[in-house]
Amino acid sequence: MRCLGIESSCDETALAIVDDGRLVDAVMSTQAELHALFGGVVPELASREHYRLIGRMFDSLMLRCGLGVQDIDVISVARGPGLLGSLLVGVGFAKGLALAGGQRLVGVNHLHAHLLAAGLEHRLVFPALGVLVSGGHTHLYRIDSPRNFTLVGRTLDDAAGEAFDKVAKMLNLPYPGGRFIDVLGHMADPDDSMFPRPYTDNDNLDFSFSGLKTAVSTWLKAHGGTALAAPLAESELQAMLQNNVLPSGMSADMPLVCASFNAAVADTLYIKTRRALQRLGGRGQIRSVVVAGGVAANSRVRTSMQRLAAEEGLHLHLPSPALCTDNGAMIAYTGWLLASEGLHHSLELETMPRGRVIPDDYIHDAH
Ligand code: KG4
Ligand code: ZN
Repeated sequence: MRCLGIESSCDETALAIVDDGRLVDAVMSTQAELHALFGGVVPELASREHYRLIGRMFDSLMLRCGLGVQDIDVISVARGPGLLGSLLVGVGFAKGLALAGGQRLVGVNHLHAHLLAAGLEHRLVFPALGVLVSGGHTHLYRIDSPRNFTLVGRTLDDAAGEAFDKVAKMLNLPYPGGRFIDVLGHMADPDDSMFPRPYTDNDNLDFSFSGLKTAVSTWLKAHGGTALAAPLAESELQAMLQNNVLPSGMSADMPLVCASFNAAVADTLYIKTRRALQRLGGRGQIRSVVVAGGVAANSRVRTSMQRLAAEEGLHLHLPSPALCTDNGAMIAYTGWLLASEGLHHSLELETMPRGRVIPDDYIHDAH
């Protein structure tokens, strides 16, 4: 069964084809540079850019694979959560294709797809604990099957990636700044007493990163001259970092702040994930841990999750960094998984912006 996946929920237009559970090919275009000018994603510009690109990207993917529309069995598309205008471009395109070609349409939950994408690299073992750490979400799930996800913990304010990006902004690093904090943080040892492990001194599974952000801001105010004097363009910073030396003019405290903040986030994720495992019954009940989303590309987060899985004796599914951030393969693979179980949607499939609960409204095909 060959499934096309379409992703357009935020600022990446991405399409991929999965055939019998294996990735055939993928195309992707990021708008990061466009939105970097504004320090965040501008929804109206994002949807226009998806609209401009999606048709030609579909054509080039099909050409590269030597396939025609008639060779596709299933069309899957991220239906939410995300920016409504952006989602509508992908969903509209998917419905048009399905209407013209008669393929089955599968609307995919973007968040579930992030976690399931790990199955492209290693067979997923359920029940699993899913740790989704992206720019918009910090969710802990119990996952019983590709269709059955139960949310057990979530952020009450900023998502982990959002905290990275906001701290990066305070430091005048380019947007989105998570990966620069990651790289700069390797040039110093973290000071564990510098920042708190926020919202861990309780017994719940939720997160709150806003206090940590405030702690960084307070520290920076007390230690003037740490942040870059002016915002730096990504190309400039990247060129400087390539030599793995501190860019000239950058305060020696910058790597220390990055390392210590990064360690605070990684420790917080470790503490809550460990607590969730215990709460869900530990190794007897949960067989693996899956970590996904942009922040799962973070090296300190990866190390602490590896430590946790080793301590608990569980399988760890940690997708390669390219599969952690938004991509088309995760949508194609999830669509393929669901369609393989006989699940699909009609052309009435609804698009769900951020904040709306995504219903389990699949049509089950008995054949
Ligand atoms: O999952 P994603 O690509 O997009 C969604 O939010 O759906 O995640 C993007 C987030 C951004 O906040 C970005 O700064 C963060 O992931 N990120 C990282 C790293 N790479 C991406 N954060 C920390 N360390 C990284 N290496
Ligand atoms: Zn995402």
